[in-house]
Amino acid sequence: MNYDDQFAGKTAFVTGAGSGIGSDIARLLAARGANVALVSRQEEPLRQLAAEISETGGKTLVLPTDVSDPRAVEYAVTETVRHFGALHLAVNNAGTSGVVHDVPGLPEDEWDKTLGINLSGVFYGMKYQVPAILEAGGGAVVNVSSVFADRGMPTRAAYSASKHGLRGLTRSAAAEWARHGVRINELQPGVIPVPRQQGNPEEVAKIAERIPARRLGTGTEVAKAVAFLLSDEASYVTGAHLAVDGGFLI
Ligand SMILES: NC(=O)c1ccc[n+]([C@@H]2O[C@H](COP(=O)([O-])OP(=O)(O)OC[C@H]3O[C@@H](n4cnc5c(N)ncnc54)[C@H](O)[C@@H]3O)[C@@H](O)[C@H]2O)c1
Repeated sequence: MNYDDQFAGKTAFVTGAGSGIGSDIARLLAARGANVALVSRQEEPLRQLAAEISETGGKTLVLPTDVSDPRAVEYAVTETVRHFGALHLAVNNAGTSGVVHDVPGLPEDEWDKTLGINLSGVFYGMKYQVPAILEAGGGAVVNVSSVFADRGMPTRAAYSASKHGLRGLTRSAAAEWARHGVRINELQPGVIPVPRQQGNPEEVAKIAERIPARRLGTGTEVAKAVAFLLSDEASYVTGAHLAVDGGFLI
């Protein structure tokens, strides 16, 4: 199958597009014909990505936005619809790993911050994306969680709790909107090296040993699975969670 125009005429809203997995998702959707609203906290990385995508003929809109601020998210969705005329697809990918502490040592404001970005940020996203997608006649949303939506981890309670929370949020929203033509799914990346992680080769090899595929994944591998969930090929898939983890969760 030729995927070049899979999303032609569609508009996608991608949060956390400024780096890592989100950039790869935005690149892939643009390469397959979507207009892409690039949403993230810092403006400069979004500008760089927009310039890169425009060189290959893609259309983007740069929207510096803090996803933990509901008014900012509402504004970004409104601007996307105003600029491109409609919204069909959304990927709520922005996230933080938060600080590393055991539960008694975890500062309360850090708990709030991690939950505010990883869980409330996705709620605010869907709160404004879903009505816009309905207005466009239907579409799909993917919420990016983690393999830690299924596992606990010492010193990462807030991260793990936020990603577990996405399961309930995604499933409930999926149940609300399935009959109206909006599919909502959860994508769980495994270990995907991104620029902010400065892992040395020995550490990478140690992590890879614990993964059945014996290697780390790539942002593009995650992006391809996101594209599947957003596309008509997944027309009967909603409320599901898909791990792209080389077998980590086995
Ligand atoms: N890389 C991995 O191994 C891995 C594994 C499992 C899950 N994930 C999840 O994948 C998603 C992407 O992470 P990544 O690894 O590409 O990391 P990353 O740090 O490269 O990207 C995260 C993006 O989110 C943005 N962001 C953070 N807080 C924000 C806020 N308040 N408002 C708007 N944007 C904000 C950052 O600016 C950045 O662009 C996250 O939800 C993360 O939890 C990543």
